[in-house]
Amino acid sequence: MNTNSQTHPTPLSSGEGHTDGASLLIIGAGPGGYRAAVHAAHHGLKVTIFEGGHVGGTCLNVGCIPTKTYVHSASFAEAVERQPQVVEQLRGGVETLLAHPNITLVKERASFIDAHTVETPSGQRFSAENIIIATGSSSKMLPIPGVDGPRVVDSTGLLQLKELPRRLCIIGAGVIGMEFASVFQRFGSEVVVIEYLKECLPMVDGDIAKRLRKQLEKRGITFFMGAGVKAIDGAAVLFEQKGKELSVEADVILMATGRKPNVSPDFVNAGLEFDERKGVVVNEQFQTSVPGIFAIGDVNGRQMLAHAAEMQGIHVVNSLLGQPDELDFSIMPAAIFTEPEAACVGPSEDQLKAAGTPFECHKAFYRANGKALAMKDTEGMLKLCCEPGRGRILSCHVFGAHAADLVQEASVLMCCHATVAQLRSMVHIHPTLSELLLAAAEA
Ligand code: NAI
Repeated sequence: MNTNSQTHPTPLSSGEGHTDGASLLIIGAGPGGYRAAVHAAHHGLKVTIFEGGHVGGTCLNVGCIPTKTYVHSASFAEAVERQPQVVEQLRGGVETLLAHPNITLVKERASFIDAHTVETPSGQRFSAENIIIATGSSSKMLPIPGVDGPRVVDSTGLLQLKELPRRLCIIGAGVIGMEFASVFQRFGSEVVVIEYLKECLPMVDGDIAKRLRKQLEKRGITFFMGAGVKAIDGAAVLFEQKGKELSVEADVILMATGRKPNVSPDFVNAGLEFDERKGVVVNEQFQTSVPGIFAIGDVNGRQMLAHAAEMQGIHVVNSLLGQPDELDFSIMPAAIFTEPEAACVGPSEDQLKAAGTPFECHKAFYRANGKALAMKDTEGMLKLCCEPGRGRILSCHVFGAHAADLVQEASVLMCCHATVAQLRSMVHIHPTLSELLLAAAEA
């Protein structure tokens, strides 16, 4: 906690009205909020940031970081032991960053009183011309009978288990469902995944998603695809597939059917336009319907990714500083940390076809890559889509070891508007998985 509060706006007691106040108020200290605060502070803005829970938000405390700790632990017991250590260390890091002389961290929730004033439960009021909302998202539970049962958890609940479930049923084969399916199967749980759609991971290229699912099936995970869950009755998950009523029994049932933006009734006091399902309405600059108020990260429902939130926050701060940047939010890489990984940037082959975009697709396979063979990681494929005639790279979708790193390279190339012809003339270290990109470019 920053104790240097004299240099900051003095909180007003309830009812005192507006002051000149901080230059910037930020509600929520997740990746979007705290990165925006630090960036603004480094550029001389006075920032007050509010956090009702732990700094670091979902990503650090109950999302990306604990999940990746599980992925990189040899056993469930090791994961349970390491998780709090990793989280606490990183939380300490964020608190250090926020202990900047230009930042005041208020460890309370902030609610809107009007478009420029917020209030905390202890009655402190703060005013500023500019406010960034970065309140994140929460798990969306299906509105079905039995959802409140003792065996049903969301991702946060699953990460709190102290005993490995013998049978784990996962509802939803999106990012959260697939990551937990992969890791809990490796720890030794019997895992069943029930997914409403025909294929897992809707945002990933269908071909890649199918290969990944088949790979996980080979490892022993059972998938029911095209299956809608209707109810939960104690240990039984009841669902319908191809007109048949089916059920599976589980000790723990993970609800991984999406997340909803954390909007709050007090947003009305600021005059904000928002929706329970879609979040706070923003334009391309993340400005809300009220001048001076911005919404970044999961709460605007655009791209529910920690790194998207961070860059949106930086973009907003840059615009407040009058220093416009060239951030391109259409190039948004994403990774799914299953084993093997999957990752993507840009539209899938199906999306390009549906949009009528002319393109050509080049593939490379892990089994033909020297490093992959040496690593005994030969299962995987990389797909590179580009404009016809080895033109500009439009997208890259990968499944296999270190897919995220490969997609990051493709993402950098896309940010530089590189063509496949240019990629072919770029030297790649041998032997590396990165040569897969070169191989696809040469295919
Ligand atoms: P999701 O939207 O990715 O997937 C939810 C899945 O549940 C969908 O495939 C949907 O068809 C299925 N579903 C919905 N109702 C169903 C029913 N009645 N029966 C069976 N299946 C049903 O949501 P998820 O996985 O909960 O993730 C939430 C957000 O968090 C996403 O936006 C994701 O991008 C983000 N996230 C990103 C991570 C990463 O980048 N590595 C890691 C974890 C989360």
